[in-house]
This record gives sequence, structure tokens and C-alpha cells, in this order.
Amino acid sequence: MKNFPFTFGIDVTSAQLEHYDNHIRRRLSSMVGYYSDQQAFARQLAKEDSLLYEVYETRRPEVAGELLNGLSVVHPGKVGDEYFMTKGHFHSVLETGEVYYCLKGEGAMVMETPEGDWSVEELRPGRVLYVPPRWAHRSVNIGANEDLVTFFVYPGHAGHDYGTIEKFGFRKLLVEREGKPQVIDNPRWRAQSV
Ligand code: PA5
Ligand code: NI
Repeated sequence: MKNFPFTFGIDVTSAQLEHYDNHIRRRLSSMVGYYSDQQAFARQLAKEDSLLYEVYETRRPEVAGELLNGLSVVHPGKVGDEYFMTKGHFHSVLETGEVYYCLKGEGAMVMETPEGDWSVEELRPGRVLYVPPRWAHRSVNIGANEDLVTFFVYPGHAGHDYGTIEKFGFRKLLVEREGKPQVIDNPRWRAQSV
């Protein structure tokens, strides 16, 4: 890897990176335990192992000083009444933030701190979201037909801690009620002992 400045394009119409090194695909089968309605999850998985979201990354060393960046694409859909979403995570180095720039679609970022503060911010094209250090984050596609596409940048040494969210979920869930997105309490959520 040469340490020279470089540029790459994002095609604005298709919201796709013109160059990437790594492509991650997350299917329904990799989200066991993440959705609230477990029966709806099992029914859906029996029918099809749908592709829920994809991440395209530019490879950089995972060390302090570097900035990891790429594109996150969450496809439209629901499991029961809960929208397609990313797993969501804290950064392993908790004191690291992240910036998201929304390129396409309609969505929200669900966030929370280990202390129990929470926030849900709207994502739509042209919006920048600043996720401060300590805030776990999950992208949710609330659009009916369109992908939610965001460009992200975070510190190279941040790492991903999925464990806490995998166990308890986020404090808030985004569900569709009477055709509209609604933020509700997650019955499975438990406060972390901090
Ligand atoms: O670092 C980030 O926050 C993003 O690149 C996410 O990893 C991406 O959106 C996929 O989400 P997750 O890592 O929670 O599966
Ligand atoms: Ni992150």
C-alpha cells in the first residue's frame, strides 16, 4: 500500500463507489437474535436468506492516525414491522467517533451510550451525521423501495464491538405503524452496569 494521496469517485446517480477493496454482504441468516419478532424472522428466513445490507470499504491500515472509509448500503424491507437495519455496534475503542454522509434514500441512525442516553437522527441525501465518541450506532432504512446509502469515515484503530448490542439490542427500535416509522422501546433492552 503506497502512502500517497489518492482520489476516487462516487457516482452520484447510482450512489456507488468507483473503486473499493472489500465488499461485505450481510444476509438475514447472519442476523439471528437481532430482530424483535423472532417468529417473523424464522418465517422469512425459511422462505429466503435475503441480502439486508452491504459495505464497500477502501482498505487502510487499522491503526491510529488512519481514517477508514467506505459506503454502507441498507436495502429496503422489514422483518415483521421492524425495518431492515445494520447490526449496529460500539467501537472497541469507545472514545472514537464517526462521520456519515447520506447519499441516497430515507433512513435513520439509532444511537445510544453505555450510560443509557439515546438518539435517533434522520438520514436523507445531503445530510451529514456526526456520531460522537461513546455512541453505538445502527443505520435503519425506513424507505419503501429505495436503498439507504451512506459514506462513512472513522478512526483506523476504532474496531467494532458487536457483543453488547447482539445481546440486548438497542434501547429503541424503529418499526412501521400505520404506514409510518415509529420509535418504540425495546422490551429486551437492559441497562449496562457502568
Ligand atoms: O463503521 C461503521 O459504523 C460502518 O462502516 C458499519 O460497519 C456499517 O454500516 C455496517 O454496520 P455494522 O458494522 O453495524 O454491521
Ligand atoms: Ni462504527
